[in-house]
Amino acid sequence: MTESAGAAARPQAGAARWALSSSADPDTVRTALRRAISGVTVVTTEHEGRPWGLTVSAFTPVCIEPPTVLVCVNSHTVTGVAIGAGGRFAANLLSQDQLYLAQRCSRAGSPKYLDDDVVAHAELPAKVAAPVLRDSLVTFDCEVTEARPVGSHLVVFGAVRTVLAPTARPPLLFGDGRYHHCVDFDEMPALAGVLAMA
Ligand SMILES: Cc1cc2nc3c(=O)[nH]c(=O)nc-3n(C[C@H](O)[C@H](O)[C@H](O)COP(=O)(O)O)c2cc1C
Repeated sequence: MTESAGAAARPQAGAARWALSSSADPDTVRTALRRAISGVTVVTTEHEGRPWGLTVSAFTPVCIEPPTVLVCVNSHTVTGVAIGAGGRFAANLLSQDQLYLAQRCSRAGSPKYLDDDVVAHAELPAKVAAPVLRDSLVTFDCEVTEARPVGSHLVVFGAVRTVLAPTARPPLLFGDGRYHHCVDFDEMPALAGVLAMA
């Protein structure tokens, strides 16, 4: 991994003050999880013979050898059912240009067909099985190796079969209930104060 920012200064330690301090009841956990900032991923599968997608924040690289990622999807969604039955999915990590896809694929109960947003089969390597979204940061075409139910969700492990990445572009982020874009510390003179000179 390459790092470009200079060494960061350690803020002065003060007494701990909690905005949240309670047992892990669902409302508290939900509120706390708003602070988990993540990238945004659309998990694509086929539904009724057409490309279909679901927006998730729960995408995690697991290991490089064997190449494995995981996603967590609600078992009752079309995508949850399709992954269990079909055994293939793609994790499309979204760029800023794809905010509209994140919004469309997270609208509860609405159709999430993506016919106009995927790369044509003819433009893909022959072995790619799942729908690939145009303009993504990267797409991991995966074969399901394990789908483990945990409460309302399926934790789905995918063996990565193909990696497709176009020219690099800025990522889309999500946290605190809102979409964000990424600003590099090096590009923000106003943040220079938190960096000690290297
Ligand atoms: C930024 C964002 C992240 C989300 N992350 C997840 C997730 O990790 N897993 C999941 O099952 N749903 C997640 N959702 C919710 C689904 O996208 C949403 O419930 C979707 O509408 C369900 O589709 P349905 O119409 O099939 O019910 C997320 C939504 C947003 C906006």
